[in-house]
Amino acid sequence: MKIAIGSDHGGFELKTKLIAHLNENGYEVDDCGTYEPKSCNYPEIAKKVADKVAAGEVDKGILCCGTGIGMSLAANKVKGIRAAVVSDAFSTKYTRLHNDTNILCLGERVIGPGLAAMLVDIFLTTEFEGGRHQVRVDMIKELEK
Ligand code: RB5
Repeated sequence: MKIAIGSDHGGFELKTKLIAHLNENGYEVDDCGTYEPKSCNYPEIAKKVADKVAAGEVDKGILCCGTGIGMSLAANKVKGIRAAVVSDAFSTKYTRLHNDTNILCLGERVIGPGLAAMLVDIFLTTEFEGGRHQVRVDMIKELEK
């Protein structure tokens, strides 16, 4: 499974830790930056990751910023992206089961690296349920037209 990951300065340390976690667990990682903890603009990084996910170049995306919110707002502007910012296991599991989320957004200033790694594991191993939820995801896709 290939994962695109990105962060701004606010999520840089968390991204670094998650890349190590993903590598340790056998995922192929495409690091879309930022590559230094200097201040930068999260929408630029969100677009890099979202474009790769939307084009099918990678299986899923992970975005980190201070809160995860800016990244989710920006990523969700890209057609085909369903990005969710999460900080608990239940929401992470159900956003995969019910929303078929393809990008996970995390806030370095909100949760610790241990919980973040656990949420990433849940996100990457939980399959979409389909069925009645597919109808609803299709309705979201209609909104993009
Ligand atoms: C950067 O200071 C911060 O605004 C950013 O990382 C993010 O939290 C935005 O939503």
